[in-house]
Amino acid sequence: MRKIYIFDTTLRDGEQSPGVNLNTREKVEIAHQLEKLGVDRMEAGFPAASPGDLAAVNAVARAVKNASVVGLSRSRESDIDAVREALKGAADPRLHVFLATSPIHRKYKLKMEKHQVLEAAQSAIRYAKKYFSQIEFSLEDAGRTEADFRAEMVAMAVREGACVVNIPDTVGYLNPAEYGAIFKHLKETVPGIEKVQLSAHCHDDLGMATANTLAAILNGADQIEGTINGIGERAGNTAIEEIALALETRADFFGAKTGLTLGEIARTSRLVSKLTGMPVPGNKAIVGANAFAHESGIHQDGMLKEKTTYEIMSPETVGFKESKLVLGKHSGRHAFREQLLELGYTLEDEQLNEAFAKFKDLADKKKEITDDDLLALIEERLPDAPEKYSLESLSFSFATQAAPTASVSITVAGEGSRTAEASGNGTVDSIYNAIDQASGEDVTLVDYAIQAVTLGKDALGEVHVTLRQGETEVRGRGVSTDVLEASARAYIDALNRLAENRRMPSGRKGAEKVW
Ligand code: KIV
Ligand code: ZN
Repeated sequence: MRKIYIFDTTLRDGEQSPGVNLNTREKVEIAHQLEKLGVDRMEAGFPAASPGDLAAVNAVARAVKNASVVGLSRSRESDIDAVREALKGAADPRLHVFLATSPIHRKYKLKMEKHQVLEAAQSAIRYAKKYFSQIEFSLEDAGRTEADFRAEMVAMAVREGACVVNIPDTVGYLNPAEYGAIFKHLKETVPGIEKVQLSAHCHDDLGMATANTLAAILNGADQIEGTINGIGERAGNTAIEEIALALETRADFFGAKTGLTLGEIARTSRLVSKLTGMPVPGNKAIVGANAFAHESGIHQDGMLKEKTTYEIMSPETVGFKESKLVLGKHSGRHAFREQLLELGYTLEDEQLNEAFAKFKDLADKKKEITDDDLLALIEERLPDAPEKYSLESLSFSFATQAAPTASVSITVAGEGSRTAEASGNGTVDSIYNAIDQASGEDVTLVDYAIQAVTLGKDALGEVHVTLRQGETEVRGRGVSTDVLEASARAYIDALNRLAENRRMPSGRKGAEKVW
């Protein structure tokens, strides 16, 4: 079996999803889980973009011991220096330097001729070689680059000593036949190509990212790049879990495998979804809630007779377990800690105390607490600094014939308590109007979604919101047995992210406007 190296870019390309702003603690938490999953390389961010991004990449670099940590850089010395700084303390540092090569990018974005692009990339790799032994070079928009110029750029990167050359389909334009042919052509024509690993990096604009990546593997790609849950700019990136399971399930056809611990996939997917605030669609391959559900009578009958009639892989392979009834009102701290350990969470004393208090609170309202409830409780946001706003109390009135009203009290860090009352065209609207007044924040609600964490009337409700303020979009999440309280918590979570962003702007999305 050929080994396919996994380059995870959830923390860089994935974080470019609209509204996603991971802070340093959240990046480190995800990085630890990616380590458990067994990715070979993880791209932690774009250090030149902002001091915040540099600090976050550095925190990941210092925390991760069992994977290569990668920093992204444009083909400029100052960017490469920022990656050097950010990767100080990394066990296995790696630079990822890129430059666009397609005619469209050369003409409109770079305003450069072919030879200038070649020279700029060459001098960036030469400069980087002084400081990094592991360099990946990416030809941005390689998919729409002329075949001969693409091969010339790859040959240059090989000569200059890059160890991985990446061929991104940046805009998700290609189909599997075309993308696979590019790898075949490079393998057959570029002198010295056997000295480097070729990497596939696909975007999902036409829904072909997974198929294109698999075509690249069939045609000689050694590394694939992607994100957990397929998150990323626009329609997202290749979903790593889809590639891993395609190779596992059809090893007979692909003859290739990843080194991933497949049983960690469900947990990783869940963590990324919680911390990015991006819910996983129910029908998402491998990690969606319905990915292993069988609804029709004929399917259920087949499953009861023989699972392989309708199941090509088992939910257990990716770490899905039946949500068990685990704890109740009388369960103690010890049982609580043991159950979290079983779910893969080791909490420090202070975190454990906080989580236990929340658990006791929940146990007063909900008789039976399952694994899923516990996960929903503890996978709360991890702020880098004390939060600006917290919910003190909430009350509301609703009658079918009158406008709903809400009264909300919040604590504003450093200032104390503020209360406001407001009405609205629905109870959630009145709560949000009251929070706007109490906080003084001017925001637009872009999206609101609600789902139940478990079955039953006393299920925990989970609310996701997206808020916009000026150019910034953020997501927030709230969990409670009461959906209106969950709605308020999600809104306040998003306001805290806005406040955090103002304090420590990630600035990355803006910085990328300059090549
Ligand atoms: O999609 C792309 O081209 C990228 C590069 C920076 C590798 O993300
Ligand atoms: Zn990309």
